[in-house]
Amino acid sequence: MAEDLMNKLIALCKRRGIVFQSSEIYGGISSCWDYGPLGAEIKRNIKDYWWKTMTQFRSDVEGLDSAILMHPKIWEASGHLEHFIDPMVECKKCHQRFKLEDVEGSNCPNCGGEFTEARQFNLMFKTHIGPVEDSSSEIWLRPETAQGIYVNFLNVLSPSRQKIPFGIAQIGKAFRNEITPGNFIFRTREFEQMEMQYFVHPKEADKWLEYWKEQRLKWYDEIGIRSGKLRMHQHGEDELAHYAVSAFDIEYEFPFGWKEVEGIHNRGDFDLTQHTEFSDKKLTYYDDETKERFIPYIIETSGGIDRTVLVTLVDAYEEEPERVVLKLHPRIAPVKAGIFPLVNRDGMPEIAMKITESMKYDFRVFFDKGGAVGRRYRRQDEAGTPYSLTVDSQTLEDETVTIRERDTMEQIRVKIDNLKVKLELLMDNYKRDKGFSVVDEKLFHEGIKQLRE
Ligand code: GAP
Repeated sequence: MAEDLMNKLIALCKRRGIVFQSSEIYGGISSCWDYGPLGAEIKRNIKDYWWKTMTQFRSDVEGLDSAILMHPKIWEASGHLEHFIDPMVECKKCHQRFKLEDVEGSNCPNCGGEFTEARQFNLMFKTHIGPVEDSSSEIWLRPETAQGIYVNFLNVLSPSRQKIPFGIAQIGKAFRNEITPGNFIFRTREFEQMEMQYFVHPKEADKWLEYWKEQRLKWYDEIGIRSGKLRMHQHGEDELAHYAVSAFDIEYEFPFGWKEVEGIHNRGDFDLTQHTEFSDKKLTYYDDETKERFIPYIIETSGGIDRTVLVTLVDAYEEEPERVVLKLHPRIAPVKAGIFPLVNRDGMPEIAMKITESMKYDFRVFFDKGGAVGRRYRRQDEAGTPYSLTVDSQTLEDETVTIRERDTMEQIRVKIDNLKVKLELLMDNYKRDKGFSVVDEKLFHEGIKQLRE
């Protein structure tokens, strides 16, 4: 069943241009995926909303965009060269590699071949900087964006004039040569992270850890993820990463089980202490009021963007007797409204196009005049478009259009004026499967002016 559901979702993603295999015309490349027109929008919407909530809506978090390639000593200091390893075995016959922890018995599950002895495999991708390929030019693609934040702690602290507690947020690509990638975009070798490092007084670390656990769960609710599908998992001693004092995962119930979507960690003073030692620069904080100098503790929130895309898709996917629908939250939906002329005559396409033109600066809208209107609705259902506006013969008489709500397929008729505000009102009040009933009707139909005042 679970496999079936994932296969259907993968087929939908290909059909609708959400995600497809990378380098497909060359036979594809393992575990690499490309985001098509709709997928690129979904991803951007997730990143934009994270960035807004983390930086724009707060005064205590600054943004950063650091380089992927960094000084190789960073990975010594961070512990990644020593600890970012998985014990691995290889089948002597078919040469497939497995994580040691995933294999049962001493023979390959694919071909029955014998395994090699376990050896340590570092997950970082190695490359060379500059024209000479020797050990002095070796560098690594970053396996997490976090280190770019730690090494820039002073560079951000001083110009921003922030006081502790404060955070630095960053979105960017990370690379891990995973031994067993899989489950579509769940585990890949190239992916994007959205990470925020919050610098706090050591005595307040527990308090801020609790705060960020709450905030991050709330964020998934705000992008429409059903709360019953999320849970918090605390790491046991044996699960803790080398840097963590304590750690929690936000897990989602995927068709293939409960799995991590985001990590929330108390990293203690590990990172700043290590970088102070390896760089010889004091990464400390001086509190003007208490006259105390100390190494801040770090509370980290570390989410994967591709994994969040998968969560939104899995959570939104529904099969109904007559249709497949993606019940994406309007914040995440790639297109906010489909705009259709009912038929291609009597000036209807022109009016629909005029509406499209007037709205396109505020939302991503999609004009479609091809085929029966029912088919056009279905196409938008599969793309996750929350609203569809239709121009029909009554529009010519009284300047009204219908708005169809995706989840309930209910329709209402509204005046053409102020469509932008009406759509905003609908999107702001959106509740999955609740349709128009959650919107204050009076406000909706006649209160547009009040909204503006
Ligand atoms: N800076 C801490 C850190 O990187 P992590 O738990 O290793 O912690 C954080 O990774 C998040 O990055 C994960 O919760 C997941 O969403 C995402 N992530 C990690 N490895 C990934 C992979 N191979 N493919 C896709 N996303 C991945």
